[in-house]
Amino acid sequence: MKLDGRVAVVTGAGSGMGRAMIEEFHAEGATVVAVDIRQDAAQATIDDLGGNSRGLALAADVSDEADAERVVGEVVSQFGRLDVLCNNAGVLDDYTTALDTTTELWNRVIGVNLGGAFFFSRAALPQMISQGKGAIINTASISAFVAGGGGAAYTASKHGVLGLTKQLAFDYGKHGIRANAICPGAIHTGMTGHLLTPEGANPHVDAAVAATPAGRWGTPQEIAHMALFLASDDAAFIHGAAFTVDGGWVLP
Ligand SMILES: NC(=O)c1ccc[n+]([C@@H]2O[C@H](COP(=O)([O-])OP(=O)(O)OC[C@H]3O[C@@H](n4cnc5c(N)ncnc54)[C@H](O)[C@@H]3O)[C@@H](O)[C@H]2O)c1
Repeated sequence: MKLDGRVAVVTGAGSGMGRAMIEEFHAEGATVVAVDIRQDAAQATIDDLGGNSRGLALAADVSDEADAERVVGEVVSQFGRLDVLCNNAGVLDDYTTALDTTTELWNRVIGVNLGGAFFFSRAALPQMISQGKGAIINTASISAFVAGGGGAAYTASKHGVLGLTKQLAFDYGKHGIRANAICPGAIHTGMTGHLLTPEGANPHVDAAVAATPAGRWGTPQEIAHMALFLASDDAAFIHGAAFTVDGGWVLP
C-alpha cells in the first residue's frame, strides 16, 4: 500500500476531485481527513469509506487563516503527523470578464483558490519540517497556463497557485517537502455539472473539450490517480512540477 501509515488532509473533499482523492488515499492505507466548508458533505465522504476508523471530517473555510490553523492543529493532536496536504478546494467565477468582476467576486475567488492554498500550506509546514518529510499537492488548473478555462479572477488565482507551488518547492525542498501542482482540464464534478446541461453549456468550453485529443470530459478519479502518485514515494524526485491532466487541452 503506497500510503500505509500516512496522514493525508484534502480540502474541498465533500465533492468532485477532493472526494476522489480521499477514496484513493484511503484505499492505499492512509488515514484521511476530509475538509470542506460543508460539514455534511465532508462527513458523507468519510461515511462512504465504509465505517472504519481511518477517517475524519472537519468543517473549515479554507480562505480563513484561523480555520487552517485549527484544522492542522486538530490533525496533529489526533494523529501525531501530517504527511500529505492537498489544497484542492476551489470556486469558479462563472467565466466573468474583468469589467464584470466585482471586488467581492475577486476577493472570494482569490481568497479561496489562492488564499486557501497559502493558509493551509503555511499552517502545515512546521509539522512537515519537523518530520523532515511531506507532500503538498495543489489543485491548479489548465487556467494556470491559458485563458478561457475561467474568468479573470479564476485564471489569475490559478496562475497564482502555480507560482505558490514553485516557491514552496524552492524554499522547502531541503526540508524533505515536495510541492507539486495538478492542472486538470475539464472534469465532470459538482463545479462543472451545470456546463454539461443544455441551459448551462459554455460554447468555448464545449469547443475546447471537443478539440482535445481525448475528446471528452475527465473524471475525478483520473485526477485522484495523479494525486496518489504525487503523494507517494514514487514521486520522490519530483519538486515544483505542474502536471496537466487535461485530455490534451493545452497541447496546441
Ligand atoms: N472541475 C473542473 O473542470 C476543474 C478543472 C480544473 C481545476 N479544477 C479545480 O479543482 C478543484 C476541485 O474542484 P471540483 O471540480 O472537484 O469542484 P467541486 O465543486 O465538485 O468541489 C469543490 C469542493 O470545495 C468546497 N469548497 C468551496 N469553497 C470552499 C471553502 N471556502 N472552504 C472549504 N471548502 C470549500 C465545496 O463545498 C466542494 O465540496 C478546484 O480547485 C477547482 O478550481 C476544477
